[in-house]
Amino acid sequence: MAHKVFVTRKIPQEGIDMLTSKFDVSIWQSEYPPTKNEIIEMAADCQGLITLLSDPVDSELIAKLPNLRVIAQYAVGYDNIDVKEASKRGILITNTPGVLTETTADLTWALILATARRIAEADRYVRNGKWHVAWGPQLLLGIDIHGATLGIVGMGRIGQAVARRARGFDMRVLYHSRSRNDDVAAMENQMNLKPAKLETLLRESDIVSLHVPLTSETYHLIGKKEIEMMKQGAILINTSRGQVVNQEALVEALSTGKLGGAGIDVFREEPIKEDDPLLDLENVVLVPHIGSASRKTRTTMSVMCARNVIAALNNEKPPNIVNPEVF
Ligand code: NAP
Ligand code: GLV
Ligand code: GLV
Repeated sequence: MAHKVFVTRKIPQEGIDMLTSKFDVSIWQSEYPPTKNEIIEMAADCQGLITLLSDPVDSELIAKLPNLRVIAQYAVGYDNIDVKEASKRGILITNTPGVLTETTADLTWALILATARRIAEADRYVRNGKWHVAWGPQLLLGIDIHGATLGIVGMGRIGQAVARRARGFDMRVLYHSRSRNDDVAAMENQMNLKPAKLETLLRESDIVSLHVPLTSETYHLIGKKEIEMMKQGAILINTSRGQVVNQEALVEALSTGKLGGAGIDVFREEPIKEDDPLLDLENVVLVPHIGSASRKTRTTMSVMCARNVIAALNNEKPPNIVNPEVF
């Protein structure tokens, strides 16, 4: 009998086609995510499960899916999955690293540019009929990106792709990671880039961009104390995970002018609540977790997910395995 696979949302067809040619596939049809119980019900006798970062794949869910052999996350970050619990039960976890690196770095740069030059605010200004005077010598003044210091927290795949783009803006780049790798060392020779302690990076950067995964170590990595270390009027960009930043401390710093602005793709709660104080601030650019959202990348991610599930259910090592010790 064909293996059963449940996909928790409609992902691009290319990946689905690969799966349906081999397995008995069911797909959650609503645009709203299934609840934990709905996933448990839908995936009850499945061997394969494709999840999104909004799905709570915790120990309870894992315990209730006894036939499960692989969970293929349609994202690179997998902080929504209890990997330890899955590993204990011999379930393989896979993700989609690499293919979304450049697309997410592009979006990070869209936020850097939009925030530093107040693009969203300026667009609202024009649309809302506030542009009454021809050319304003002091209208909507922002900060220069060229020549500024960019601080990259988490110099992994995406962090490095963001750093490479900074070359075109003649920036000085500081980065902070726990380890140093050869690719980064090579970049240091080609551009104005150097490693720094987190504190030094925060004190010296005009723009700080976050690219760490969410872990117990990076939860609230940027809190009140860290924001206080930042330059007056500096900009914070977050395309990592909302919980890496203490959102209350961020709102406070944006309100007082300690921070000049923020460009945010990821939030403590997604979707953002209607009464979230971030929505009342002019100096923030808010986008709804669209880091990897290009047609091409999302299609490639669906193919990657399908390859991972196919390999796992064929008893082969999936190309993007997160817990190789289980295989
Ligand atoms: P990656 O290649 O694994 O890079 C993560 C980097 O963070 C590594 O260089 C790692 O280096 C560093 N790091 C980990 N823990 C750290 C800590 N405690 N302190 C300092 N640095 C730390 O991952 P990636 O592919 O670049 O993706 C990064 C994250 O971006 C994902 O986990 C995901 O949450 C997020 N993301 C968001 C979107 C979006 O749509 N907004 C899209 C893709 C990815 P060391 O281990 O040496 O410290
Ligand atoms: C998106 O946020 C991802 O982790 O791929
Ligand atoms: C602006 O439009 C200028 O010419 O300086």
